[in-house]
Amino acid sequence: MSEENGYALNLQWFPGHMTKAQRMIEKDMKLVDAVCEVVDARIPVSSRNPDIERLSAGKPRLIVFNRADQADPAVTALWREHFKKSGVRILETDAKSGKGVQGFAPAVRELLREKREQYAAKGQGSRPLRLMVLGIPNVGKSTLINKVAGKKAAAASDRPGVTRGKQWISIGAGLELLDTPGILWPRFDSQTVGENLAFTGAIRDEIVDRETLAANLLLRLRACYPDRIEMRYKFAPAPEATGVELLETAAGKRGFLISGGECDLERMSAVLLDEFRGGLLGRITLEKPEAAE
Ligand code: G4P
Repeated sequence: MSEENGYALNLQWFPGHMTKAQRMIEKDMKLVDAVCEVVDARIPVSSRNPDIERLSAGKPRLIVFNRADQADPAVTALWREHFKKSGVRILETDAKSGKGVQGFAPAVRELLREKREQYAAKGQGSRPLRLMVLGIPNVGKSTLINKVAGKKAAAASDRPGVTRGKQWISIGAGLELLDTPGILWPRFDSQTVGENLAFTGAIRDEIVDRETLAANLLLRLRACYPDRIEMRYKFAPAPEATGVELLETAAGKRGFLISGGECDLERMSAVLLDEFRGGLLGRITLEKPEAAE
């Protein structure tokens, strides 16, 4: 984001364990037939790691738009069309409630249709197809695995050929899922990516300046969803106001004042971010397909 659109966030990130995690993913990749990449439907660009192309080594890939319950359905529909054009089907899920998760196994079977046909032609039709769930932190990988596994979460134990220490969960329909997700690091190509991850809570608040973040969120909301500011904070955001001015107005409207009549921006920032993440501003998607081009 350019300076004129917002304030520079002093983002720090510590990619400490990334090399180890990547090595693990590369190793596990040899064991699977397909990859399920989970993204946050509210920020489908920022929550992807472009290294996935290289890491998934040409394996068929299912893209899961998780947190679909928190995303703007109209924008999710634009994403569906966007991916369809390149022959990729996305699966929309709310792993928390389980909505959409029933589509997981059929989508993977479809994705691996050719592979299944190859196995069947070799008389290995009953051979299980294996897959791994991948994604950056906080997109809902573990929740999705739990929901997909459901009651069928019996580990497909100690069969020959199964690497010791790896747990495969049989999820029915001839599919097995690696029980631990592959964790990718988000990639900070731009301030916007870092900011989107911080807005949604994928980056902990402690490492960013919360007031700057909240002021920038108000600028983004003014640009994409001005009505939500009005609905929640009871003012129409002036087009020329700075982010801090918007934050001050919101604080004033809420009666968040400190001694001397000044606005309590710290409190307002925390409340705004909490309310955004908690869905009180409605379903919002911060990235449209043009951001992917
Ligand atoms: P990760 O493995 O990718 O790091 O994510 P994880 O499954 O741990 O999920 C992170 C948080 O996101 C959890 O909330 C989880 O409940 C929530 N979550 C996962 N999928 C969805 C979804 O589709 N929709 C919504 N609304 N939330 C989702 P938490 O606050 O850490 O725990 P909890 O108290 O909600 O269980």
